[in-house]
Parts: sequence; C-alpha cells; structure tokens
Amino acid sequence: MLTPDLLDRAVELLRRGGVIALPTETVYGLAANAEDELAVRRVFAIKGRPATHPLIVHIPGAEHLSEWARIVPDEAKALARAFWPGPLTLVLPRTSRATDAVTGGQDTVALRVPGHSVALEVLQRLGGGVAAPSANRFGRVSPTTAEHVQRDLGSDVDLVLDGGPSTVGVESTIVDLSSGAPAILRPGGLATEDVERVLGRKVPVRTSETVRVSGSLASHYAPRAGVVLAEPHEAVQRVESLRAQGLRVGVLGPASLSLPKDVQRFDVPEEPAEAARVLYARLREADEQGHDILVACLPAASGLGIAVRDRLSRAAAPREG
Ligand code: TXA
Ligand code: MG
Repeated sequence: MLTPDLLDRAVELLRRGGVIALPTETVYGLAANAEDELAVRRVFAIKGRPATHPLIVHIPGAEHLSEWARIVPDEAKALARAFWPGPLTLVLPRTSRATDAVTGGQDTVALRVPGHSVALEVLQRLGGGVAAPSANRFGRVSPTTAEHVQRDLGSDVDLVLDGGPSTVGVESTIVDLSSGAPAILRPGGLATEDVERVLGRKVPVRTSETVRVSGSLASHYAPRAGVVLAEPHEAVQRVESLRAQGLRVGVLGPASLSLPKDVQRFDVPEEPAEAARVLYARLREADEQGHDILVACLPAASGLGIAVRDRLSRAAAPREG
C-alpha cells in the first residue's frame, strides 16, 4: 500500500516536472504540476489529446480558489462549501496562474478539490495546483483502478499511486459559473438535483455546445466492442435479435434481466450510484471477452443515472476510423 515514502516521491516528481497517476474518488488522473508548462505538455502527449482541450486544475482546498480564479461568485462559494472535497468541478474566469497550456488559451479555468485522501495529501504537500485529466488514452474508457492505468499507460508515467478503486466511478460534474447563469457542461458524480438544491434554481445541462469539453465529443469513453443501448424492458429482445444475426453479444446490466443462459452478463446494478461506481470496470471486463456487441441496459434518468446514461451514449456513438 501507500507509504509516506511513496507520497514523498510523488510530490518530488511533481516538483521536478514529472507526470504521475493520482487516485481520486471519480477516476484516476494523469497529474502534472499545473504551473510547469513542459510537464503539462507531456500530459497531453501521453494522452494523445488535442492541446485545445483544457485540463482541470486540482487544488488542496476552497481557500485556494482566488489564486486561480479572478472572480469567485457567491454561487461558486456555495457549491464549494457544500460539495468540496468531492466530484464537482467549477469553471471560473482565470488568473494568470492558470496558464494557456492548462486552459487551452481560454479565459476560464476548471477547478476541483478531489475527495480522496491520497490526492488531498499530495496536493497539500505540493501546496499548488495539479492539472489532471483522466488517466486514459484520448477517447477511451477512464480508469478507476491503478491496474487500469498500469495497463493503459504503463511505462509512460513516472509513478502510479494506488489508492484503491475509485468510489464514485464517473468523472466530476462540471458547472460553468464563468458568465451569466450557471450551466452543467458535463453531468457526473454529483447529481444535477444536488447542484440545483444548493443554488435554489434550475441548472440546464449544456453538453453539446462545442468541443471545449472533450467528454462532450459524440464518441468518447469507448470500448473496442460496439455498444447498443437498451431500456431494461427491451434488453432481452435486443440481445436475441443481435444473436440471430450471428453476433457475439455480451450484456451490461442488472441480475434481474432474464437472459438466455449462454449470454455473458457483466453486472451493472439498477441503482444509479452503484451503476456509476462499477460502470468503467465492467466496460473493460466485457471488452476483454472479445464480444462483437455489448448491449448496455440504461439506468433510470435521475441522480447519477444521468451521468451513466451520458457515458453509455457516448460509448455507443459512431466512431471515427
Ligand atoms: O473527475 C474528474 O473530473 C477527473 C479527475 C481526474 O479529476 N478528471 C477529468 O479530466 O475528467 P478530463 O480532462 O478527462 O476532463 C476534464 C474536462 C474536459 O472535458 C475539459 O474540456 C473540461 O473539463 N474543461 C477543462 N477546463 C475547462 C474550461 N475552462 N471550460 C470548459 N471546460 C473545461
Ligand atoms: Mg477524460
């Protein structure tokens, strides 16, 4: 497990321009010192991500907000107070501390205090900001264990810190508070309803706007197998008709589905938060079995079910090449 030595090494690597894999409660991040442009560029190179897609800066606590954000509206303070450390990212007007390398040249910066003891410890010891996208190759399934990172990125990173499986399992909810009325740019590990409760108003989801949010590209979070979406009542019939076409079909869904005996099922529970927690691991497991098609059963569209449905839809979207 994690020794103080290993944490020291992680912080030292970040100080010297290294790139490490850092556990968070949402997914594992590919972390670099946010103020070290060369290190940040290495993160983009390792991920194979276009430089115009900005990164989230992880900070040790809400008291550091004003170092990175020029304007911190009351609504941002209220959300930070209610949900940090936790699966919430705030987009705010940036200070010069947030460099072009991190923000993709935008006038805003995305900030988050992660709810994971290892990540917080590293951030506190570093005393600065850590730019960290999810630690997967661009467009692929995000990692929720150290082993996932090891398999995807292996020797490309200087150190992989193992903080156990991510407990939330999907990326943070991104709330844009940089201008005008708040909007959700990416549904995630914090339910929209919780954001609305604290702000006392409706907060629209605005994901398809542009490529500013890379997770909002149509095809993302994609396994190798094709993905077909199904509401629970239509899943069994979908499986049967795909099998009738001679395809090897696997299913992502709850135990309550009455599937033919020889169909392999990967357990994604009905309860949305449970589904979120295991979704990416199950997508990976299913993908390793060499199925042609995975039929993914959709959870109810409320709470974390919104984020799960969003990720599954992107996994199912048409792909380039
Ligand atoms: O849960 C998470 O948020 C994880 C963990 C590691 O913290 N990180 C994560 O990073 O999901 P990444 O890079 O895969 O996704 C960050 C998202 C991207 O879609 C990016 O476009 C968006 O945040 N983003 C970053 N800065 C932004 C900005 N200034 N305006 C709008 N979107 C921004
Ligand atoms: Mg990502």
